[in-house]
Amino acid sequence: MKDVRIPRKEIERVLESLDLEAENSGVFYGRWVKKEEARTIESRSPIDGSTIARTTMADAEDYENAVSSAQQAFEEWRDIPAPKRGDLIRKIGEQLRKKKNDLGYLISLEAGKVLTEARGEIQEMIDVADFAVGLSRQLYGLTIASERASHRLLEQWVPLGVTGIITSFNFPASVWSWNSFVAAVAGDSIVWKPSSKVPLTAIAITKAVQEIVEKESMPSIFSLVVGRGSEIGEAMLNDPRLPLISFTGSVESGRNVSEKVAKRLGRTILELGGNNAATVSDNADMDIALKGVAFGALATAGQRCTSTRRAIIHEKIYDEFLSKLRNIYENVQIGNPLDEKTLVGPLIDEEAVKKFRNALDIAVKEGGRIITGGDVIESKNGYYVKPAIVESNRSMKIWMEETFAPILYVFKYSSIEEAIELNNIVPQGLSSSIFSTSIHDIGEFLSGHGSDTGLVNVNTGTAGAEIGGAFGGEKDTGGGRESGSDAWKNYMKRQTVTLNYGKTLPLAQDVEFKI
Ligand code: UN1
Repeated sequence: MKDVRIPRKEIERVLESLDLEAENSGVFYGRWVKKEEARTIESRSPIDGSTIARTTMADAEDYENAVSSAQQAFEEWRDIPAPKRGDLIRKIGEQLRKKKNDLGYLISLEAGKVLTEARGEIQEMIDVADFAVGLSRQLYGLTIASERASHRLLEQWVPLGVTGIITSFNFPASVWSWNSFVAAVAGDSIVWKPSSKVPLTAIAITKAVQEIVEKESMPSIFSLVVGRGSEIGEAMLNDPRLPLISFTGSVESGRNVSEKVAKRLGRTILELGGNNAATVSDNADMDIALKGVAFGALATAGQRCTSTRRAIIHEKIYDEFLSKLRNIYENVQIGNPLDEKTLVGPLIDEEAVKKFRNALDIAVKEGGRIITGGDVIESKNGYYVKPAIVESNRSMKIWMEETFAPILYVFKYSSIEEAIELNNIVPQGLSSSIFSTSIHDIGEFLSGHGSDTGLVNVNTGTAGAEIGGAFGGEKDTGGGRESGSDAWKNYMKRQTVTLNYGKTLPLAQDVEFKI
């Protein structure tokens, strides 16, 4: 691969248009706070290792101020009618439409995603903004028949409080919006701790959003604290002023989040690792299956929680499917994500490259056979690898783990029962898919004894979910659900209201209380 060069002029234009400087504050609570003595982090582009800009980090005092500011904002915001809250999110959606290209470019630069996917991430934010606007007029409760005369039972939903959102590097923008736009129409305020690998995207988004909040003279409900997980992240987990923590990250970190927040009886939404399989039946449409598996395994260089990590292929088409897939792998353009023709960009950092190589070494030791890829591509400072396909067997252990890199473990199967068993055998349970034209195979896959993941796809891949459905998974994936459907209920308190409009006081369960 020839050395990747990034267009300095264009980068300067984008940074300027997004109001980013050489050194930015990573702390916002109604105002940007930048202390002389603050610790700073450097954003290095995984494209060529060059420094894009620096960010100052939050300390304990900044964190305290951010939470108390969010609490004050909450007290005002919760009294604004939900459809008016939705109107603010509508305007934020319009702002994102205007900035889609520049924000997308910044994500490419900072996270290394190819441009079409990076713009897609901003589109995902716009979609969830639209969804939240509609939702702001639909925060429905129930009415329930009461057993007592002249009584009503009602269920109503009221705002919860300050929501803590901790996001990961791979979706540096949209995962925040899944949570924060829905939380905002629900009446909550937000404190966001983004991954320290991608602070600039978080700062640019906060600036774009804040411009609208100020123009509309609304309370400052969106706060940002760029900081260390061990300091700011831990403070959030242990802080009873945050009734809900939404966390996206590894299973290991998720366990810590779950334990700490549960200890103070707080709520969590956990979006942890996936280990997603695609099953390809003997009667599958070959082109659809190939594109679905290739996109699932290669998109974001295998760094999505929904990435396809395993392909379970029917023995009758195994050889044909694999040779065609191998052909795709060997012709795909790997390199600079800012080049529109590139489909596979760099991994996020050196550590990710090491984990990729390490997993492959283990796979080979355990008896796996690398069919294609697996090499680290020589480049001056970028983190490029050749995506790998590994022929695997059941006695291997490495494929039980999620390695956040483009490794696809492939298996042969002969019956749909066997395919479902292999699909479900891993500890994680985020996404799965089946490529098939057999109504029997599809029915089995979707049945109660079928795939056990939170997202199940038929004739489409494991990655690339729409925002309208609830997103999340079972088992080690953590059980959380966010973005669409009724995920909004996570961000509100359910109140069961008993309303007596009669002139006596009958008691439930026919209890007598004679005074
Ligand atoms: C993630 O990888 O954390 O379904 C989120 C998808 C995207 C979101 C992935 N819409 O692949």
